[in-house]
Amino acid sequence: MSNQKEINRRRTFAIISHPDAGKTTLTEKLLLFGGAIQVAGAVKSNKIKKTATSDWMEIERQRGISVATSVMGFEYNDVKINILDTPGHQDFQEDTFRTLTAADSVVVVIDVAKGVEPQTEKLVKVCRMRNIPIIVFINKLDRPGKDAFDLLDEVEQKLHLTVTPLSWPINMGPSFKGVYNIFSHSLNLFSPGKQIIEEGIAINNLEDKKVDDYLKEDADQLREDVELIENVYPKFEIDSYLGGKLSPVFFGSALNNFGVKELLDNFIQIAPSPIGRESDIRKVLPEEKSFTGFVFKIHANMDPKHRDRIAFVRIVSGVFKRNTYYQHVRLNRKLKFSSPTSFMAQKKSIVDEMYPGDIVGLHDTGNFKIGDTITDGETLNYKGIPSFSPELFKYIENASPMKAKQLAKGIDQLMDEGVAQLFTGKHTGRKIIGTVGALQFEVIQYRLEHEYGAKCRFEHITLYKTVWYKSSDQDQLKDFRARKATQIALDKDGREVFLADSQFSLQMAQQKYNNIEFFFTSEF
Ligand code: G4P
Repeated sequence: MSNQKEINRRRTFAIISHPDAGKTTLTEKLLLFGGAIQVAGAVKSNKIKKTATSDWMEIERQRGISVATSVMGFEYNDVKINILDTPGHQDFQEDTFRTLTAADSVVVVIDVAKGVEPQTEKLVKVCRMRNIPIIVFINKLDRPGKDAFDLLDEVEQKLHLTVTPLSWPINMGPSFKGVYNIFSHSLNLFSPGKQIIEEGIAINNLEDKKVDDYLKEDADQLREDVELIENVYPKFEIDSYLGGKLSPVFFGSALNNFGVKELLDNFIQIAPSPIGRESDIRKVLPEEKSFTGFVFKIHANMDPKHRDRIAFVRIVSGVFKRNTYYQHVRLNRKLKFSSPTSFMAQKKSIVDEMYPGDIVGLHDTGNFKIGDTITDGETLNYKGIPSFSPELFKYIENASPMKAKQLAKGIDQLMDEGVAQLFTGKHTGRKIIGTVGALQFEVIQYRLEHEYGAKCRFEHITLYKTVWYKSSDQDQLKDFRARKATQIALDKDGREVFLADSQFSLQMAQQKYNNIEFFFTSEF
């Protein structure tokens, strides 16, 4: 089969949601349709529940699960689907941002009763920045929820998306009767708990007598709703969707397996096949012959005695082949992989060849960092994995003087994995760990001790944000560097950041140094 055929039949996407909206349940139902799993309950949730903050067994267990569920590939109607898993816990949000760089589209799951929740807002914002095509799935229609029109308004306002419903619910909660498929003009009637899916009832138009026969007193309401939809919402156009300008909305109940097949059938028709990626020198297209890919996730292995890790590489172009030398661009070194891993459902297996859109797992003994590029030989680096200024900061100190080396190595490797960000005071040399959530500090302390035999202590620092900066005004830069010397640190790539201890001090700096630009992300 030619590469083009393999590229065309791939769909690589991520499901994102606020915790508990039904991401895991939906993933599982999609895998059931693909025949990748046989029973419900096989996909374990990769979420660290809030209550488990200090439950280390739970975190270790979750780490194991998240290797297995990082990528779930399956075949459906001759389409190879790769679902990228994203952690539910908000403390691991940065992981999700990075995973989104490997996805070509996303499905956003929203709980019909809760509507748009904060984490969904943040994640969709990142998708919008990259114009990723978004499909919205409104879940839990078997429960009472918000009015469907109100919910669409909320999605438009809070997520800043232009939406158009492709299916429409007939009631919800205890009186939920099913959905009308606007796209295919068919009725799908709901029976709770039914796992077998019947084909929708085809109707010619909504005036069809079958609509009254099946829906009885709700038939006229549906007719009114659909008339309103046709007047208010734009017609679905695939190009607008692919450009990230229009998001189709589906309604259903993942738990009851309702609306999931429509979602999947539409998804494989409209969702993009692998798209190219921008590099520092040019845009690379999937159909190019030469292999290129980038590391978007690194997972430490479960066995603490062997510090091997799996680097997850998104293939951007060409064909990845086993036992072939590839160029590790940052290290300027050739590397060969004898056991590249593919992820089908929950199974890992060694593969000989993989195509654009696929995710290959590479065993790594410490060569990779998140964001690294590998190629056939060309020197290029993929962009698009920015670091955002963390929210919480602490000094990290060695609590066991004999183990300084182990501590340094442990910190380095954990930072390569993207567990947190490290900033080193330019003049003080003190190390500052920055995280999105409090949980990471505990994870770092625990893993340093159990995997590297090192002990650390965290100390308080008053810090509002780490701010990247640049300027062409050398005089201002010189003055800024001199006056703020104790507040300048280096990030993992050796770039300078300003340690702003409060919003006020940042504003003062911005006013005084008006020719210096300040940034909350490392990509500018
Ligand atoms: P998440 O990955 O987005 O965090 O959500 P998850 O799928 O774990 O679902 C969260 C809860 O919502 C689960 O219940 C799940 O069974 C339930 N759920 C998912 N889809 C639907 C739906 O369509 N209708 C209804 N009524 N519930 C749904 P739980 O009690 O928290 O967990 P569990 O004990 O059922 O696993």
